[in-house]
Amino acid sequence: MIGSDIQYAISLLQQEQVVAIPTETVYGLAGNAFSPRAVSTIFAVKNRPTFDPLIVHTSRFERAEAFTTKIPDIAYRLADRFMPGPLTLLLPKAEIIPDIVTAGLPRVAIRVPSHPVAQELLGGLDFPLAAPSANPFGYISPTTAQHVEDQLGDKVPYILDGGSCQVGVESTIVGFEDGQPVVYRKGGLAVEDIEALIGKVVVRAFSSSDPQAPGMLKSHYAPRVPLVLGDLSTLQQQFKGQAIGVIAFRQPLPGVPLEQQLVLSPSSNLAEAARNLFAGMRRLDGLPLDIIIAELLPEQGLGRAINDRLRRAAGGA
Ligand code: TXA
Ligand code: MG
Repeated sequence: MIGSDIQYAISLLQQEQVVAIPTETVYGLAGNAFSPRAVSTIFAVKNRPTFDPLIVHTSRFERAEAFTTKIPDIAYRLADRFMPGPLTLLLPKAEIIPDIVTAGLPRVAIRVPSHPVAQELLGGLDFPLAAPSANPFGYISPTTAQHVEDQLGDKVPYILDGGSCQVGVESTIVGFEDGQPVVYRKGGLAVEDIEALIGKVVVRAFSSSDPQAPGMLKSHYAPRVPLVLGDLSTLQQQFKGQAIGVIAFRQPLPGVPLEQQLVLSPSSNLAEAARNLFAGMRRLDGLPLDIIIAELLPEQGLGRAINDRLRRAAGGA
């Protein structure tokens, strides 16, 4: 059931049930992070392997001090500037966080969403929320309550509606190795914005073979219709005679019906493109297409996160 009753969501969460919640990045499937029972329900509902750890959400970064044993100075600087917002910090895990949340890994992922509904919800709870994106494992993340309803509606007692997600791609994940910041997932906070605050950072996206985050699998964000990347006109020739869907940055591809196309941002705005990406991919994925052809965006700002999702959707990140 979709609704906007925050108190009802709170009461379900207090009873160790799961609730889908809005954030500014994507919708999350939330449960009490202190409750192994609630957390195991999240894994079951998503059909997610338990080796893939969950992000812990709280209303203010100061509340997360109890969830970690050490916060480097750079982490405080990042948190001061970018939290609440689309940033997740990986910090050494404290005992209070159950192992099931971090899949036994030594670090815990902490995020403070800025979405007003998420803020009000988290502010009304005396425990943090573990929440992965509210999609079946491996599929495109949801950016509206209806997306969650379409796929998990019969498995989730309540979907808290917070409208369309304003960022539209998942949070940027930053951890620290020997005190040096490392970006593990390109997301809704641009790497350039991080570097403007703390200087050059290493960008080393998780891969499926990386034991530190086995969840960032290649085939993540994948639509059912096969997706290929490249020059749109060339691909159009290559797949001539087939039902083609198109993901283009600025303008539609001549010769393909407009309803089979996703134009991410006619004004070349990367933030707008990020906002439109997942909902558009879902729409195309609902059409009777043989193939989706897509072009990469400029490799800057949120374009880097978008390109990462497109590459993963194509199975090649
Ligand atoms: O924007 C977001 O981050 C959204 C919203 C709901 O907050 N959440 C999200 O969660 O994207 P999820 O589970 O779909 O992706 C989080 C990724 C996981 O794939 C996992 O690999 C990594 O973060 N991660 C989480 N906890 C970790 C940990 N303790 N150590 C290493 N990686 C971790
Ligand atoms: Mg996810």
